Amino acid sequence: MKKTSLISIAAVAAVSALMLAGCSTGAATSTRACVILPDADSGTRWESGDRPALDKVLKAAGYETDIQNAQKDAAKYATIADAQLSKGCGVMLLVDFQGAAVTVAEKAKKQGVPVIAYDRPIAGADYYVSFDNDKVGQLEGQAVVDGLAAAGKDIKTASIVYSSGDPTDGNAKMFLDGALSVLNAAGAKAAFTMKGTWDGPTAGTEFEQAFTALKGKVDAVLAPNDNNAAAIIQILDKNKMTAVMGGQDASTAGLQNVLLGKQWSTVYKPFSVEAKAAADLAVEILKGNKPTEAKSNGGVPFLALDPISIKAADVHTVVEAGDAKAADLCTADVAAACAKYGVK
Ligand code: BGC
Repeated sequence: MKKTSLISIAAVAAVSALMLAGCSTGAATSTRACVILPDADSGTRWESGDRPALDKVLKAAGYETDIQNAQKDAAKYATIADAQLSKGCGVMLLVDFQGAAVTVAEKAKKQGVPVIAYDRPIAGADYYVSFDNDKVGQLEGQAVVDGLAAAGKDIKTASIVYSSGDPTDGNAKMFLDGALSVLNAAGAKAAFTMKGTWDGPTAGTEFEQAFTALKGKVDAVLAPNDNNAAAIIQILDKNKMTAVMGGQDASTAGLQNVLLGKQWSTVYKPFSVEAKAAADLAVEILKGNKPTEAKSNGGVPFLALDPISIKAADVHTVVEAGDAKAADLCTADVAAACAKYGVK
């Protein structure tokens, strides 16, 4: 009798120790959604687009949100993650910064916290939610093809500068591969290849080097996003020139450049759609469901959403969808183009 009760006391103690461990390590019973964004200046999307979109859909899905930004600092990324995990996370949505998310994903999974790689791929994540990034790249390559044709220039002899995103971001290779598939098929060749970065000022400096090396003869630029395109356009503006280029993100600056005819097109990837897809997935995981996805990225199931190409005549659709504001776009020098293309 005495022996049994000792055993049951020990069992109760063990169970409560486990429960305590469950609480303090924040295993998947927590309803906190922990999110880490990579930076605030590789574009405006992370702070102005993704943060509010994620906050809204995750709260609507019944989560408390803890959304932080690593401000392009890998050490800070790790510190934020440790603090979030010790408070407890029911799910982690990580946008990788230069590989920092890989270790975080390992730690989270050891604590039973499912990890969704949000927008950028992460080795070892449970799921990857993003746009079809090869297609994004194809649309960027197509911008160069169509823009040169419209300018009456032969793509085979055109002077084209090739740029790409930060090579540590797994998306950058997908964008580039997609773009190259279109450009190679059209017979394009690189007159100069930039190193690749998501940092605007660095892209500007690299483009200045290309511009000098090519003695100012630049017909087109393969630009990986609107932020890089804006930095490159600034250099072209200084030299009173334009060149054909695409971009992505449908950012305010990108849409303005499209309206002004300085950028052929941008690729629109609605944050609301991406955030909703991630939040829906988080809910399914929390219910214990494991949705299967047709695509895979390095063995991680990949939910690949459809990107949309936006030319000047399509800008109004981004405004109508609530992902850009006419008041922000149609400033002094852009007002006439807004009137011409029905942006209001
Ligand atoms: C995203 C782009 C963004 C870039 C820079 C990529 O991973 O897919 O939308 O422009 O990072 O932040």
